[in-house]
Amino acid sequence: MSNNPLHWLEDELAGLSAQHLRRELQSWGRDRDSGPICGGDVSLINFASNDYLGLARELNSPTMQTTLEEFGWGSGASPLVTGRTTVHAALESDLAAFKATERALTFPTGYTANVGTIAALVGKQDVILSDTRNHASIIDGCRLSAAKVLVYRHNDVDHLAELLGAATSHRRRLIVTDSLFSMDGDVAPLDKIAELARAHNCMLMIDEAHATGVFGEHGRGLAELFNCEDAVDVTVGTFSKALGSIGGFVAGSKLLIDWLANSARSYMFSTALPAACASASRSAVQLIQTEPHRREQLLSNAQHLRQRLQSIGLLPESQNEFYSQIVPLVVGTPEKATALSAALKSAGLLVPAIRPPTVPVGGSMLRVSLSARHTQSEMDQLVDVLTTN
Ligand SMILES: Cc1ncc(COP(=O)(O)O)c(C=O)c1O
Repeated sequence: MSNNPLHWLEDELAGLSAQHLRRELQSWGRDRDSGPICGGDVSLINFASNDYLGLARELNSPTMQTTLEEFGWGSGASPLVTGRTTVHAALESDLAAFKATERALTFPTGYTANVGTIAALVGKQDVILSDTRNHASIIDGCRLSAAKVLVYRHNDVDHLAELLGAATSHRRRLIVTDSLFSMDGDVAPLDKIAELARAHNCMLMIDEAHATGVFGEHGRGLAELFNCEDAVDVTVGTFSKALGSIGGFVAGSKLLIDWLANSARSYMFSTALPAACASASRSAVQLIQTEPHRREQLLSNAQHLRQRLQSIGLLPESQNEFYSQIVPLVVGTPEKATALSAALKSAGLLVPAIRPPTVPVGGSMLRVSLSARHTQSEMDQLVDVLTTN
């Protein structure tokens, strides 16, 4: 018997391999125009990135360079010590103005924003009502909070109402949902959820990670599109997707932000983002307001690809009028998903296989992620290769 106390990991990893669930770390080069390059200098068309508006390469403003020279790379401390620079403060003001809330707070990532916020809002005496397909960072925040968690069926408002009706004896109640679901690409019925939250005097938190910059007349997200922003108490977002940068944020009332700055442990006990990143995010917040054509192009791409896939039966008919930029092609087993992803890669297309635990067992899929930069011919190429595999 081995005396390495980590020996058991070998068996665990072998178990993952046998189920086609093992992740291998990869590293990618980048081609400025065509995106990721895999080993051997092969350039692939990228359907795997959340840089929905193509901003990641365009935030290189002179202001950012000046910020870098002035503040250096690392912020050096938690925001409550000296990590929160004047650039972070300006970004938070910009965000609050953009999201039409009193205040905003930046976190190191969207993950830490969700985890820290949920655990700061509810505890042992409280209850959380959470959609079964919520992002892992919401699930982890729920666990960390020690509150009772009632999971409602995906987007099922009647089930949510039933659970809410039965959960009356707790100190506080929090409903939490993704607005655009990160893997399924479908949209939560936010107007109906907001109505329920108000009727039951329950806190409502939504995660607009994939919707900010994409939906709504001003790009604020799906709560804007559903015209229910006033009923949302806590909005979480990230700079790492349509905004092309890095970092998470929460937008809401002054009271909420004061409380989070005093109690969200992932805010208090982690080093602040570099000021240069905050500066890049400021440019991104500006660009999504001044350049709506980017999201219009993205959503038009989404409509094109979805309609083509629906017409050949590779995607079910849309349940609603939303053509989102995340297009799931469910194939079932991890084995099928990895094989199809490999076949697409051989044809020059990068589409990741998504397997448990990211999706439920039986729901392995290819997740096609669109960008405003994709051309019609790139999307048609994807459809052609899918048709022959
Ligand atoms: C719905 C959702 N929330 C939060 C996050 C976390 O954001 P970040 O990547 O900034 O940590 C993600 C990222 O995958 C997400 O999909």
